[in-house]
Amino acid sequence: MRIVILESAESVSQRAADLFCDQLKRNPNSVLGLATGGTPVATYRELLRRYDQNQVSFEHATTFNLDEYVGLEPAHEQSYRSFMNRELFESVDIDLAQTHFPATLGDLTEAGQRYEASLVEAGGIDLQLLGIGTDGHIAFNEPGSSLASRTRPKALTQRTRMDNARFFDSLESVPKLSMTMGIGTILDAKQILLIATGQNKSKVCRKFIEGPVTALVPASALQMHPRVTVLLDEEAAQDLERADYYREVEAIQSSLENQNT
Ligand code: GLP
Repeated sequence: MRIVILESAESVSQRAADLFCDQLKRNPNSVLGLATGGTPVATYRELLRRYDQNQVSFEHATTFNLDEYVGLEPAHEQSYRSFMNRELFESVDIDLAQTHFPATLGDLTEAGQRYEASLVEAGGIDLQLLGIGTDGHIAFNEPGSSLASRTRPKALTQRTRMDNARFFDSLESVPKLSMTMGIGTILDAKQILLIATGQNKSKVCRKFIEGPVTALVPASALQMHPRVTVLLDEEAAQDLERADYYREVEAIQSSLENQNT
């Protein structure tokens, strides 16, 4: 994993937007894996800013979101479909028919299989954006999820429901069930970018980066992927034991990259 510690949450969103813009420049037909939650909002705002300045286009891109709540209408303010429409899709040139979410109606096991099939049909995800839950979840793969899991229904933990209650009127209105890409699905992405900011993510960042690979910390499965970048602000990085080493490696890596451009 490439661990990049940046001075602020703003720098994290700028660097994340750089990676998305580079990807779309290299391949305008890219398949992007997108995430929801509070953390990616700043990245989407930065992408919008660059779109407004004609620095990036989503015209030929295809997107797959990680997850969706079961039990909310797509038009519900807190559905992840609404979130993405509001935060990004409605303001850029993306073709909404090319934006995908796991279905949450009917037979959910079959819906998961259909999502997997459409991912394969699209050629797989080129760049997957991830946030991280305070319990180590990625997408809605809660602790204990199989590291080989595929898209399926998954019950949310009380902690995740409490964390996400800030977006709802009350804890009771937070759904108890979700449809989520599995950890195996996420690991199939060609490149992965995880972003985490703020002090409340510092303990879990230490666990998934420096602890053992374990289903109890689902994000630790990323240690098994050959191409993962983790962007952290100083607060999220404050508990890392080897922060100095990551900074040294990053300084060498960026000077090599600058020589090549
Ligand atoms: C939700 C999403 C995750 C996200 C997590 C953290 O549970 N399903 O994809 O990573 O929230 O969100 P935040 O960025 O708000 O801390």
